[in-house]
Amino acid sequence: MLVSAKEMLEKAKAGHYAVGQFNINNLEWTKAILQTAEELKSPVILGVSEGAGKYMCGFKTVVGMVNGMLEGLGITVPVALHLDHGTYEGAYKCIEAGFSSIMFDGSHYPIEENIAKTRELVAVCREKGLSLEAEVGAIGGEEDGVIGGGEVADPNECKMVADLGVTMLAAGIGNIHGKYPANWKGLRFDTLAAISEKVGEMPLVLHGGTGIPADMIKKAISLGVSKINVNTECQLAFAAATRKYIEAGKDLEGKGFDPRKLLAPGAEAIKETVREKIALFGSANKA
Ligand code: 13P
Repeated sequence: MLVSAKEMLEKAKAGHYAVGQFNINNLEWTKAILQTAEELKSPVILGVSEGAGKYMCGFKTVVGMVNGMLEGLGITVPVALHLDHGTYEGAYKCIEAGFSSIMFDGSHYPIEENIAKTRELVAVCREKGLSLEAEVGAIGGEEDGVIGGGEVADPNECKMVADLGVTMLAAGIGNIHGKYPANWKGLRFDTLAAISEKVGEMPLVLHGGTGIPADMIKKAISLGVSKINVNTECQLAFAAATRKYIEAGKDLEGKGFDPRKLLAPGAEAIKETVREKIALFGSANKA
């Protein structure tokens, strides 16, 4: 059964580790992530962007697929199905479809409007037992065709949004989605420390997990980050392994064209990436 992310993140915050949110794109992705979380006895959050939800034929299809897999694969670790960077309308669609966790990303609205919409969703999610993530300070980079400049959140605004009663808070600290440019200056730990001090026990979320060096990840966790989002890294691993299979001519050997064989190296590569991240985040054996 899908669970809210509240309990797993509160435990992570108290235990000084982070739970990974891995974004899903299809059945193979979802299966690889769930099997790896189960293998390592780690709680896990499956992230679904609105674009990925559309690609997978709508949020109801996603809920049906994930619920079926939890049963079919015999998954026992806590799993949250989470809308990633949801719009106001998207949030309501996912609540109705049966997601167990929602991110409402109002970071592009003026802070008053972000607060008003987040406040409304806090009440709805609380009533239904869902976790809610809010965002302050837009995360840079490209996601679903939207390019953000990468803001650094104002700790006072973070405190205002945290006080609305959200479950977890994403704050821009120089992190971006996708690969980091060669001249990236790194995470703004001064801002993260200031936010942490203001919001106290509230679990913080680090977006753009792809390509952040291990020492920065560990430092971010020590400063209150309890959820780390990873998307691009699984995509790169999948693509590289699939390219290798085809370039080696394996699809031309025997039944190598069978999609169950053709997509297997990519799925294994996703599993390896998820294993590495779970080890780095420290969530193994915390289920
Ligand atoms: P990356 O694609 O950079 O790993 O970011 C993922 C993310 O933050 C999803 O919200």
